[in-house]
Amino acid sequence: MASLAHTIPPHVKPEQVFEFDIYADPRISDDVQGSYAEALRHAPDIFWSPLNGGHWLVQRHDLIAEVVKNPAVFSAREMQIPRVKNPPLFIPLNLDPPGNVPYRHVLMPKFSPRAVAEMEGKMRAMAAEIVADVADAGTCDFVHDVAARFPVSVFMEVMGLPLEKLHEFRAIADGFFKAHTNEEYQAASQQIAAIFHELIDFRRKAPGEDLISHFITVDFEGRKLSLEEIMAMCTVLFLGGMDTVTNVTAFTFQQLADDPALQSRLAADPALLPQFAEEGLRMFGVIGTPRLVVQDFDAHGIAFRKGDMVLNALWQSGRDPTRIANPDRFDIDRKDMAHLNFSTGPHLCLGHALARAEMRILAEEWLKRVPSFRAIPGAHHGFRMGTVIALKSLPLQWDIA
Ligand code: HEM
Repeated sequence: MASLAHTIPPHVKPEQVFEFDIYADPRISDDVQGSYAEALRHAPDIFWSPLNGGHWLVQRHDLIAEVVKNPAVFSAREMQIPRVKNPPLFIPLNLDPPGNVPYRHVLMPKFSPRAVAEMEGKMRAMAAEIVADVADAGTCDFVHDVAARFPVSVFMEVMGLPLEKLHEFRAIADGFFKAHTNEEYQAASQQIAAIFHELIDFRRKAPGEDLISHFITVDFEGRKLSLEEIMAMCTVLFLGGMDTVTNVTAFTFQQLADDPALQSRLAADPALLPQFAEEGLRMFGVIGTPRLVVQDFDAHGIAFRKGDMVLNALWQSGRDPTRIANPDRFDIDRKDMAHLNFSTGPHLCLGHALARAEMRILAEEWLKRVPSFRAIPGAHHGFRMGTVIALKSLPLQWDIA
């Protein structure tokens, strides 16, 4: 729940204060990233928002890179704004270097471009099936029926969740990402933990080629990973690997629905889809990554003080006019591509090759069956703000032959 009490500590200068509610700012609209950029256009590059417990917000590409590459000052140990008591531990996300490195080594081979390429056929079949389920209807809620379903299927494949669990797992994942109350969130988290426990037990007896079997069998600095470590990594993959892809895909399709010329161009030339996906990733970043200041540090006129929280608004990195010409224009031919939506430095997203492949494959399979479509006029989309931005729905329609 957002705390709206104003907090301005003495080390923050008055000109560094800019009031912005990262959970519910009234200036934000369905064009979430566009209205964000507009709302912060005249804010300092690094500013202190006194809301939500008070925190810094960093909004320029190069400054964000400086922060996330300096874990000795800006620790990933805590990622909640406002700070909470007993924050959960996600591995490797909450471990600063060097602690995170061996865990990244465990994960990396499973998410390398080669590993992703090996999954291409299976992913394509899953995407085709999801699109086929709606193609003849002439209408769908793209978020619910397509963008949310595909990453869950891919995740299950990566983790080695048996296919007969698909519907059960999809329903639980859906419940988790839709949870509003603490009780709903807790209930869904417990169900997810139970599924992973069951799966770990199953794979201990019957190891396969999947990620869980890899976690169970891998040699980790001369020992086996504990159940707690495996669970903490599964949770990061669950949180990081599904909602993110869903949300970027949803915003990118919201954009594409308004651009019939680009739809025709992409349908005629699927070789352009990697550029399309990358431009979507640049324009529609969905993650803001918090850091905790663990030692006093002065830079760029700012006195960062131990205990301050910092939100790196990664979605602003792709809209930075000092790096990108006409940053609010969707242009798949642009040469000045720059964004940090997968972060950079010690926690660079491990799933970036998979995410890019998922976006490309889903767009290709969609355009094969639905080459021309539009948003239903007047339909309410709705969005969620916070450290992960989401579009709630995207009602589309198209003509059926
Ligand atoms: C468009 C989709 C995605 C976006 C925008 C995204 C973004 C990010 C970002 C910004 C971080 C760094 C967070 C930080 O520094 O605090 C991160 C970390 C991570 N992501 Fe992704 N991600 C996406 C998809 C995925 C997928 C598909 C997977 C795998 C299934 C994945 C797995 C991870 C993991 C394991 C980490 C932790 C890395 C570490 O802490 O060393 N992500 N992601």
